[in-house]
Amino acid sequence: MTIAVCPGSFDPITLGHLDVVRRARSMFDEVVVGIATNSSKSALLSVDTRVALVRDAVSGLDGVRVAPVDGLLADFLREVGANAVVKGLRGGADFDAELPMALMNRHLADVETVFVVGDPALAHIASSLVKDVARYGGTIDDLVPAGVADAVREALRGKDDA
Ligand code: PNS
Repeated sequence: MTIAVCPGSFDPITLGHLDVVRRARSMFDEVVVGIATNSSKSALLSVDTRVALVRDAVSGLDGVRVAPVDGLLADFLREVGANAVVKGLRGGADFDAELPMALMNRHLADVETVFVVGDPALAHIASSLVKDVARYGGTIDDLVPAGVADAVREALRGKDDA
């Protein structure tokens, strides 16, 4: 039984994330999507809301489950018995950001990171851009799984008190 963890902020989950989770599942028996805190980002959505939205988005995917990462990803990797971390790359900037984390996670937990190249048709989608587009009234419904756009708009109106 091989287990991969797909970690991220998922603030919010996008179609790009979903594509990476599907690709991870094609390589591993089980995929655990870990909803973690990135200390260099200020989240729009609460962890509970992010977990609920990701659970909904992956509900049709067999062998995929979702869990919050309460602290260090390395500890979470050990807890779930992960064989690998899987992260998606949209381009060189992603690699530059991911490489130190991959090295640190290997240092701390002795777990390898596998990088997958996502669908190029989704390469322009980033959670930060999705929030920015929504903040200024643009349409994000075709960039995120069903239900996510409404949650983002609600949070931007200051109603995410989950
Ligand atoms: O989607 P992101 O923001 O690029 O994901 C980064 C994330 C959340 C996976 C990373 O910040 C993380 O692992 N946070 C948990 C705390 C931790 O382990 N930090 C050290 C990372 S090497």
